[in-house]
Amino acid sequence: DQLLLPKKPSLPPHVFHLFPWIGSAVVYGMDPYHFFESCREKYGDVYTFTLLGRNMTVALGPKGSNLIFNGRITEVSAEDAYTHLTTPVFGKDVVYDVPNAVLMEQKKFVKAGLSVDNFRIYVGQIVDEVTKFATQDEAFVELQNGSTEGSVDIFKTMCEVTILTASRTLQGQEVRDSLDKTFADLYHDLDGGFIPLNFAIPNLPIPSNFRRDKAQKAMSDFYMQIIEQRRKSQVGSKDGRHDMIEALMDQSYKNGRKLGDREIAHIMIALLMAGQHTSSATGSWAMLRLASRPEIIERLYAEQKEVYDDGAGGLRELDYDIQKNSVPLLDAVVRETLRLHPPIHSIMRKVKTDIAVPASLASPQSHTSAASLAANKKTDAGYVIPKDYYVMAAPGVSQTDPKIWKDPASFNPDRWMGKGELEPEEQGETVDYGWGAISSGANSPYLPFGAGRHRCIGEQFAYLQLGTILATFVRRYSWKLATRFPDPDYNSMIVLPKAPNNRIILKERS
Ligand code: HEM
Repeated sequence: DQLLLPKKPSLPPHVFHLFPWIGSAVVYGMDPYHFFESCREKYGDVYTFTLLGRNMTVALGPKGSNLIFNGRITEVSAEDAYTHLTTPVFGKDVVYDVPNAVLMEQKKFVKAGLSVDNFRIYVGQIVDEVTKFATQDEAFVELQNGSTEGSVDIFKTMCEVTILTASRTLQGQEVRDSLDKTFADLYHDLDGGFIPLNFAIPNLPIPSNFRRDKAQKAMSDFYMQIIEQRRKSQVGSKDGRHDMIEALMDQSYKNGRKLGDREIAHIMIALLMAGQHTSSATGSWAMLRLASRPEIIERLYAEQKEVYDDGAGGLRELDYDIQKNSVPLLDAVVRETLRLHPPIHSIMRKVKTDIAVPASLASPQSHTSAASLAANKKTDAGYVIPKDYYVMAAPGVSQTDPKIWKDPASFNPDRWMGKGELEPEEQGETVDYGWGAISSGANSPYLPFGAGRHRCIGEQFAYLQLGTILATFVRRYSWKLATRFPDPDYNSMIVLPKAPNNRIILKERS
């Protein structure tokens, strides 16, 4: 009889854990990728685990990513998942403190500021900041004192260089000027509130959160003063400014309401936080990966010499159009770094109404062992993920899946150069995974910038910033690892290289 009855969708399998409420928090927190993979072996691509009292349903693989990134707005909500972490840091009335339709408009405003005209100006500004840092900051003291070699903490260096270059370009001169003064401390205190603990437990009355709240107000006021000052002084003139504040000051919502000054201030804080961690982590990993493969650094230098040849044995200044279109190896280095080290390992949404997971995704995949096939044999009717669960995408898992990528663990920028070494997607479709051919749709195995309505809008800026920083380093130095290649550190919101193995030895080019 049972065979004749239609099967009902069931809940996804639940990861076994010993401690109620805590659930799998410790194993997940220590090494999320190891956790995702080992659960995938047992349960397939879709499973639920308990994380500090919440039910988190992980959906792996390109189809899993698609389920979450392209989930209907009635089914999944980013704001419900993130707001208690982000709103105290960014401030009210922006990003996840507003309905999704408002965020969509705010992202459009930001896009207006990320224009090619502005990017052209940024290249020289970024080179200038990196060069000043290398010649003046005490981190580079050995090199400045006449030695040809010097050891630097590349993570610390990249944090500094990222905030210096982002403030000089996107954030604006006033922010850059106060970086050496109060702004750095405010940033530090605000950043102290951007921690996984605040995602896990809302409104924790801990000292770092009091400092966060004070810093948020002070930073918000600081941006307000900049805007006020600009309005007073400029009388119709942009004063040659190409930063985001300037772009946001001109924006209005579809209903005609002008973007308010407080909203501008909070969007600027959101952009500062969104760009700082992701770019500084990616820059550090890129430098460290290159340090482990110095021959690629020399190929990057050769690429620079080829495309920027000044005809007299020297190099021309970096230029936006060449950086954008004619340095495929440099581009491939960033792409490959983001494949192996996407800064964000888990992307979350809160479930608003029950979600049906199609049988094709719920049924055990080829990744699964025979034992789990047996355990999951009821899943051919699909799963249902109930309201008030959370869903979690982890595109980083597909980005190193041996079913998709050849030699997935190796850092091989060449896989992005022209038609590469990748296998077509599992369905047998011919997919061009060559350089530049990865789709930005959600069904891709490569999604370091996410997909769908919440997709990153900072990608072009990040490529410009990282490419210009890396090129400036390549032109000045060769380098190698000072110790072994670092392990990933999963303790913050972003995957960082674990200290103390994040030092490199720079050697000045003669
Ligand atoms: C969203 C990654 C740099 C601004 C995202 C998302 C990812 C991501 C994965 C999707 C999050 C989700 O779906 O929940 C990265 C990486 C970066 C980077 C890997 C650098 C290597 C930047 C920069 C900016 C920025 C430089 C700003 C200038 C944003 C914004 C969103 C976003 C505004 C949209 C959030 C939303 O709609 O919910 N980023 N990002 N990102 N990112 Fe980035």
